[in-house]
Amino acid sequence: MKNKKSNKYKELAGLYDDLVTSGYYNYESMLEAMLRVIGPHTKVLDLGIGTALLAERLLTARPEILLTGIDFSPDMLQHARQRLSNCARLYEANVVDFDLGEIFECAFSNSGIWNFIETGEELLLCSHLDKRTDNEQGFERVAAHLCPGGRFVLNVQGEHRNMELEISNGVQYQQVVYHHQDGFTKEYYFKRGDELSLHQTLDFRIFSLEEADEMLYQAGFERDLTAPSVGLHVFRKR
Ligand SMILES: C[S@@+](CC[C@H](N)C(=O)[O-])C[C@H]1O[C@@H](n2cnc3c(N)ncnc32)[C@H](O)[C@@H]1O
Repeated sequence: MKNKKSNKYKELAGLYDDLVTSGYYNYESMLEAMLRVIGPHTKVLDLGIGTALLAERLLTARPEILLTGIDFSPDMLQHARQRLSNCARLYEANVVDFDLGEIFECAFSNSGIWNFIETGEELLLCSHLDKRTDNEQGFERVAAHLCPGGRFVLNVQGEHRNMELEISNGVQYQQVVYHHQDGFTKEYYFKRGDELSLHQTLDFRIFSLEEADEMLYQAGFERDLTAPSVGLHVFRKR
């Protein structure tokens, strides 16, 4: 992977909300799916909470949820803090080695550290973590924060492709995706007229479904076949 330092959503943080609420993601359907799978549980951990767009919706729909969020990007967390004020506990932490000293009933990654990708032909695990060992450790850390039977939920996205989009504040967004052997690099460009106002590069690692299931099993998870899982992959701590 090139340009690893950039994987912290530094430049992107300021325009992230404008981009993802301009039709890039659908937080309303994400909310519906997540509420179904969280069910009656209240102790919830948001992994890679970002600017807290889903967290805010969850807390509005279910104010009794005790939400904790982690993210390793101080820039994204700053937006999350403004959005949620005191309604959630937020920690700057890397999923690879976090330790909150607390146990949750449900943990989710909504295009956070991990998500699944549906290409039309296969399902793949997409990760912000380059090394397999980091992914294994991250999954172990998540398992360590869940009660037995606790759910670990990952969302599903389509394949990342080259695209352009006019985002809500009149800024033109363009993404360019370079696929390589172990994953892909995504270039995010934001232009106002001819002027480039922001550029960020992020690297993503891809694992096959078999590799993903193997890592998750080793970390102490099994698929939760009883869970309502439209648009989601749900695992439970054994
Ligand atoms: C695409 S954003 C998703 C944000 C949010 N979940 C949402 O639905 O809008 C991915 C987030 O995961 C965070 N992230 C990536 N790798 C991480 C890691 N190793 N530890 C903690 N957070 C991480 C990034 O900083 C970023 O805020």
